[in-house]
Amino acid sequence: MSKNLNTEEIHEFYLWIRDYWSELSADDDGTLSHVLNFGVWESDTVNLFRAQEVFRKKMTDWLGNIDSESQGLEIGCGIGGFAVQLVAEKKVQLRCLDLLPEHLELSASYAEEMNVKEKMNFQEGSSMHMSLFDDNCFDFAYCIESSFHYTDKEQFFKEIYRILKPGGIFVIADITCEDNRKITFKQGNFFPSSAEFSQYFDGVGFTQKQYSSIGGKVYNQLLSFVKQYNQKNGKRDKLTKYWERVLTNYSDLYNAGLMDYEMYQLQK
Ligand SMILES: C[S@@+](CC[C@H](N)C(=O)[O-])C[C@H]1O[C@@H](n2cnc3c(N)ncnc32)[C@H](O)[C@@H]1O
Repeated sequence: MSKNLNTEEIHEFYLWIRDYWSELSADDDGTLSHVLNFGVWESDTVNLFRAQEVFRKKMTDWLGNIDSESQGLEIGCGIGGFAVQLVAEKKVQLRCLDLLPEHLELSASYAEEMNVKEKMNFQEGSSMHMSLFDDNCFDFAYCIESSFHYTDKEQFFKEIYRILKPGGIFVIADITCEDNRKITFKQGNFFPSSAEFSQYFDGVGFTQKQYSSIGGKVYNQLLSFVKQYNQKNGKRDKLTKYWERVLTNYSDLYNAGLMDYEMYQLQK
């Protein structure tokens, strides 16, 4: 496997935060989402589990007409929530790529629990070096809140373009930031500006089909949920305080017009 430079940093980061984020993402009855993202918060969204559901539904819509004949790829699949639910719902064949072996193990065991493992394949590797996949082999691909970690996004977009079939769809959603000097905590984060983000995929030849700026449905709502959750559950340790500070920073930047969360549907 080709490793990117910040693998160790990413590994340590997820080792530290993963259990807390999983706990935070559980529904009120304790059902786990197996998702590690910020979610998309509508006005009636009550918790992070539901916000992640909103996000997953929007992403699934943007993948278009996919069915049991479709071959797909999730890049940076994390602990498998979106991938497993997508396969359960759409019956697609799905490959999942992540840098961290423990995330792939957790994804595979969730796939097994949900009886969809035979339609899935889990591969350790970096998004920036996908030589394990042939040219023009996927009908669709998606990447949710993972590309902010990638040190060479230009290479990543070239690779995605290469492995998609002509006409194939790529959905990407991630954090953008107009002034990275104002980010207080930088572990493994390489946020592009909004303009840089679209230059990467315009540069390799993708056509933009749909765009959504969703920062207004992410940062402020998530911050207030996390603060409430920590208070209600007596969480006052270093990790939970860290998240309050990180999300306060992000909310402040969003409110100042310096941060967003952007989602694109692209076509090769
Ligand atoms: C914030 S999590 C999001 C996971 C999942 N997409 C979700 O929405 O729950 C980011 C994931 O990207 C993975 N990742 C980071 N850098 C990567 C890279 N260069 N190639 C593949 N995966 C990477 C991390 O290991 C982690 O599982």
